[in-house]
Amino acid sequence: MSVLVTGGAGYIGSHVVRLLRERGDDVVIVDDLSNGIPERVAGLPLERIDLSAPEAEASLKDAMLTHGVDSVIHFAAKKQVGESVERPLWYYRQNVDGLANLLAALGDAGVDRLVFSSSAAVYGMPDRLTVPENTDCRPINPYGQTKLIGEWMIDDVMAVTDLRAIKLRYFNVAGAGWPELADTAVMNLVPIVLERLAAGKPPVIFGDDYDTEDGTCIRDYIHVKDLADAHIAALDALAAGTNEHTSFNVGTGQGASVKEVIEALSDALGEPIDAEIGARRAGDPPRLVADTSSIAAELGWKAELGLADIAASAVEVHRARR
Ligand SMILES: NC(=O)c1ccc[n+]([C@@H]2O[C@H](COP(=O)([O-])OP(=O)(O)OC[C@H]3O[C@@H](n4cnc5c(N)ncnc54)[C@H](O)[C@@H]3O)[C@@H](O)[C@H]2O)c1
Repeated sequence: MSVLVTGGAGYIGSHVVRLLRERGDDVVIVDDLSNGIPERVAGLPLERIDLSAPEAEASLKDAMLTHGVDSVIHFAAKKQVGESVERPLWYYRQNVDGLANLLAALGDAGVDRLVFSSSAAVYGMPDRLTVPENTDCRPINPYGQTKLIGEWMIDDVMAVTDLRAIKLRYFNVAGAGWPELADTAVMNLVPIVLERLAAGKPPVIFGDDYDTEDGTCIRDYIHVKDLADAHIAALDALAAGTNEHTSFNVGTGQGASVKEVIEALSDALGEPIDAEIGARRAGDPPRLVADTSSIAAELGWKAELGLADIAASAVEVHRARR
């Protein structure tokens, strides 16, 4: 295969690029390096293009034709929920305009296979124990809206062209498959806990009075290497002609509470962690866990790694960086 990976110099994209190269696929990266690190994809062709710029459609078309691309994986997007609340129009420009330019370029270049990074943020605050893909999507912030709009845009283009696409709704991504590809952002529970400890401060648990087994919020933590593998399964399904259900949850199907994550990190560190209990944060659903039966049945993919693997890889990276 010859795969163009937008956002391939990013955290998740670079893991997928690594897997594609390991199995011998050709890869070209498109990234504006706004949050990407070129060393993650050293030695591979990298086209520096801002997908949201007006000239992006033509540049992307050129890149697809020059590199004989047959499939595209689209990671390039802004991903910070809080920032999206503060700068909504910029998020729509980046994530929605960027996808519109990419979809136009796919048509121009005659490339008809696309894998899209969506998010569990499309669900908002669902009142179900595990969330199947047909749950009503009611995102509660501009970031989640841009992902849901992206899914709609893809569906609408699929309805009138030969495009075939799979949209992957990631749950809580964490860990590192290779230390040098680890996330540099400190936005999610695992890196936040490690950063607080490194600063000599106790991690804070935002609310321990939720209606869950131990009172803390439950999420579905997916190891980034498993997530990367799901993209390979999606690409292979598109190459084989699959076109049934096009949105899939990517998680483990297992929930872990904030306290359980902190325990896993404590085990990986080999030292106890004393957390502080703080107030609840607005917009935190008590429980958000993927129903993963569709992706297992239709793409033959399931997560292999668990919380202990996530914690071990995160601690390894954290120690190396310090
Ligand atoms: N990390 C998560 O927990 C998570 C969860 C759900 C969904 N996602 C989605 O997965 C995708 C990848 O996330 P990530 O964690 O690897 O983020 P990341 O920021 O590490 O990677 C995104 C990459 O896209 C590039 N990029 C951003 N805007 C661009 C633009 N306008 N033009 C060209 N390149 C641009 C950045 O430079 C970066 O290399 C994103 O679409 C994100 O919304 C991530």
